[in-house]
Amino acid sequence: MTGSPIGVFDSGYGGLTVLKELVKHLPEYDFLYLGDNARTPYGTRSFRVVYEYTLQAVKYLFAQNCPLIIIACNTASAKALRNIQQLDLPGLAPDRRVLGVIRPSVEKVAEITRNGRVGVLGTPGTVLSESYPIELQKWAGGTVKSTVQEACPLWVPLVENNEIENEGAAYFVKKNIQNIFLKDKDLDTLILGCTHYPLLIEQITRYVPSHVQILEQGKIVAEKLIDYLQRHPGMDTRISKTGKLRFQTTESADNFNDKATLFLGQPVSSETIHF
Ligand code: DGL
Repeated sequence: MTGSPIGVFDSGYGGLTVLKELVKHLPEYDFLYLGDNARTPYGTRSFRVVYEYTLQAVKYLFAQNCPLIIIACNTASAKALRNIQQLDLPGLAPDRRVLGVIRPSVEKVAEITRNGRVGVLGTPGTVLSESYPIELQKWAGGTVKSTVQEACPLWVPLVENNEIENEGAAYFVKKNIQNIFLKDKDLDTLILGCTHYPLLIEQITRYVPSHVQILEQGKIVAEKLIDYLQRHPGMDTRISKTGKLRFQTTESADNFNDKATLFLGQPVSSETIHF
């Protein structure tokens, strides 16, 4: 790999919803997207396994010369990022950075919530990790008064099978949205805490009261990354800027290319890699 791209990692296709916004906001930057499709989904896996897989991916992306990695996957951000930042990075590559999607989302919530009552929709792994409530308290404790969560285990398979607009999807979206409003009928901000959920946005908005603000992460992560690079010019200069986009997957490249278009909105030509 030539250049020194920003690495974008996800358990599979979902992170392409984040990459899409990153490329839109930072078109001149080089990106290397890695999807661990051979081992997806992460959302139902244990802490130990998600950490182990994510660390392998981070080491791989460092070996591809990425000075900065964005973990686009909420589950990996929730279960592995802190360990990687605190335990692994100092020995592995102290001059490089690994960032996730939870902190930017939490900061955005603090900016926009009016009554401090927040809802989080995510995979079972993300919800069980309690990462969002913990991080919301830590970084937005002054404004966020309560957080309720709802695991939506069927939403990822519905999206991956392109069952986005049908009655089956409507049934499960409605059910999970109703559940979270039963937990707090007054929440005013709802975080879509999973890479796949923006693809269900039309279904979601059908069941969420119109005064509730729905946070899609791609745009937020992109805006916060711009801010981060402005505050860290030393890192910014290390990233190559030729507008190059590369895609790698741990599974079949053909399968990846087929499905990636749904998430990215443009054709993709990927290559298969092995850790
Ligand atoms: N990328 C994952 C996330 O954002 C969803 C897919 C999975 O479970 O691996 O949590």
